[in-house]
Amino acid sequence: MSLRPRRSCLAVPGSSTKMLGKAQGLPADQIFCDLEDSVAPGAKEAARGNVVAALNEGDWTGKTRVVRVNDLTTKWTYRDVITVVEGAGQNLDCIMLPKVQTAAQVQWLDLLLSQIEQVMGFEVGRIGIEAQIENALGLSNVKDIAFASDRIETIIFGPADFMASMNMPSLVVGALNPDYPGDPFHYPLFKIVEAARARGVQAIDGPFLQIRDVDAFRSVAKKSAALGYDGKWVLHPGQIDAANEVYRPRQEDYDHAELILDAYAWHTSEAGGHRGAVMLGDEMIDEASAKMAQVIAGKGRAAGM
Ligand code: GLV
Ligand code: MG
Repeated sequence: MSLRPRRSCLAVPGSSTKMLGKAQGLPADQIFCDLEDSVAPGAKEAARGNVVAALNEGDWTGKTRVVRVNDLTTKWTYRDVITVVEGAGQNLDCIMLPKVQTAAQVQWLDLLLSQIEQVMGFEVGRIGIEAQIENALGLSNVKDIAFASDRIETIIFGPADFMASMNMPSLVVGALNPDYPGDPFHYPLFKIVEAARARGVQAIDGPFLQIRDVDAFRSVAKKSAALGYDGKWVLHPGQIDAANEVYRPRQEDYDHAELILDAYAWHTSEAGGHRGAVMLGDEMIDEASAKMAQVIAGKGRAAGM
């Protein structure tokens, strides 16, 4: 599967034609047009039409195009999917399903997409699924969810809904609690990235709500980046550059990774004597260090370094 760039995933309310227009000119790797929690119930039906028009008429060159539909406990989900995919399926990369709780919910979406693709004459299976994990049951089932469909491209952590689902006594996403001697977000973040890597798909961190505090955004983002996450949601244009920077390797790490790969390729070749473990300066490199270097070089190349 080709992994699309997703360092910065910009949320755009489907009820705002102004923001749907403005998002096209912003340097986010992905945009997702939202039909869920940023759209008031009375605006949901009109938002579907706005999103279809924006996908078809806008210029989204270079961006991954996603629509977040409403979750399956609501009455809106099926018509969200049908309206958006019938109306703009050719100009859409993925559907994001929020508050996923079971593998069966992903399978429902997979089957519905297959039917719409057949009716519309689209290639069956092209439209991907992004699954958002944002409550206790979803986290319990995350591995089954990651394996529920070949269409799964990312598993996303939804920290705000997750905090509510877990009764966590805080209103600030990612904030540490002095009463807890650790990071309460470590477990869900780790469990999600573990499931994503087991399945070979991307792991994406969710939103940071204090949109004017870009330093705080950066420090929360650095934690999931350190665990291997591929990107994070951005709710405001001011967070985009920070996300693009945090989820791209540092230049010196990228350069060093390329050096390791070059050296390892040479030493393991015939000309280099088929050697498997060799010294590069003061550092021993072998197959495992080449794999670590491949991860960093891969992220850097995907980010155009
Ligand atoms: C995102 O949807 C969240 O709940 O954090
Ligand atoms: Mg949510």
